[in-house]
Amino acid sequence: MWLLIWTLLLTESLCEEGGKPPVPDGYNINISPAEITVQTGLCAVISCTFTHPDNVQPKDALWLKCLDEGCTNKKEAIFSSEQSSNVKKDYRQRVSLLERDLSKKNCSMIINNINENDQGKYTFRIKTSKAAGYTYKDKVNITVTDLTQKPSVLIPALTEGETVSLTCIAPGFCSGRPPSITWRWRRPGDNTTEFPDNTTIQKIENLTNVNTTHLSTLTFTPSAEHNGINVTCQVTFNEKIKTEETVTLNVTCE
Ligand SMILES: *[C@@H]1O[C@H](CO)[C@@H](O)[C@H](O)[C@H]1NC(C)=O
Ligand SMILES: *[C@@H]1O[C@H](CO)[C@@H](O)[C@H](O)[C@H]1NC(C)=O
Ligand SMILES: *[C@@H]1O[C@H](CO)[C@@H](O)[C@H](O)[C@H]1NC(C)=O
Ligand SMILES: *[C@@H]1O[C@H](CO)[C@@H](O)[C@H](O)[C@H]1NC(C)=O
Ligand SMILES: *[C@@H]1O[C@H](CO)[C@@H](O)[C@H](O)[C@H]1NC(C)=O
Ligand SMILES: *[C@@H]1O[C@H](CO)[C@@H](O)[C@H](O)[C@H]1NC(C)=O
Ligand SMILES: *[C@@H]1O[C@H](CO)[C@@H](O)[C@H](O)[C@H]1NC(C)=O
Ligand SMILES: *[C@@H]1O[C@H](CO)[C@@H](O)[C@H](O)[C@H]1NC(C)=O
Repeated sequence: MWLLIWTLLLTESLCEEGGKPPVPDGYNINISPAEITVQTGLCAVISCTFTHPDNVQPKDALWLKCLDEGCTNKKEAIFSSEQSSNVKKDYRQRVSLLERDLSKKNCSMIINNINENDQGKYTFRIKTSKAAGYTYKDKVNITVTDLTQKPSVLIPALTEGETVSLTCIAPGFCSGRPPSITWRWRRPGDNTTEFPDNTTIQKIENLTNVNTTHLSTLTFTPSAEHNGINVTCQVTFNEKIKTEETVTLNVTCE
């Protein structure tokens, strides 16, 4: 039953054998980019606009994942503006349209917290009633690769006795489930791993119109003995995909 609901069996394959299928007048779509490579844990942002004949009233907008080679038969809904209950919970939490007003003819979407299973082709469909609608011919091909982007660790000048904050910015500018950000502190030689007294760590989510930045600050007061310490910031996406960056502290005397 669930499978039936999730897997929309569409019957638009008839004319796809041999040559280009005809595109009915008025239905156009512009998906950009048509090919996108995304690292696991990060997000895919697809820019998209569509047109439809004036006499058509879209009631539902769907993004569908192709489940077969030619994307002719089996498709799985990953987003539905009207009937989100028809979409698997995992997708419901991760996929959204950037513009909710369908009359704007803007099908741009974001898929957050990308994982290997998201690799594949996706296509857009509008529905005018429960059974009727139109699936656009153009597709976006998402390729998923391992996470290689590293966090950025920003260090101001460190002067003995002056309290400072180190900042670690997670890669990606995604609005999905926030990554966890942790710090490690390690002195070469004696392998000390304790943070200095009075260290505070604060997690910050910085939301701007377009981007979400996840960052963490580590605030402490350097002393001469912190010179040469290695500080590592580790960012973990989807609870298992890790990336880290290590910096060596240079503390100057007053
Ligand atoms: C689609 O909507 C998003 C979010 O409102 C916006 O950022 C984007 O510029 C729009 N695209 C077009 C082509 O209008
Ligand atoms: C999607 O893109 C990848 C990488 O460019 C390519 O290897 C793959 O064949 C493409 N998939 C389809 C279905 O076109
Ligand atoms: C400190 O970090 C540097 C690279 O930033 C690395 O080469 C060095 O081995 C690290 N030292 C220790 C003790 O971890
Ligand atoms: C510090 O750790 C490194 C690697 O774990 C180890 O090889 C080294 O012997 C340790 N040094 C001390 C002083 O414990
Ligand atoms: C930590 O904070 C306490 C209380 O604010 C202060 O008395 C102490 O000197 C501080 N220690 C360091 C190492 O800064
Ligand atoms: C949040 O982002 C804006 C724009 O990028 C930047 O100006 C601001 O300093 C950031 N705030 C924090 C707390 O990082
Ligand atoms: C938003 O994120 C993109 C990368 O996805 C980045 O290139 C751009 O500078 C960011 N814009 C702002 C205002 O932070
Ligand atoms: C500290 O100094 C070392 C050697 O001079 C340099 O490689 C390293 O990048 C410096 N670290 C920072 C955070 O400036």
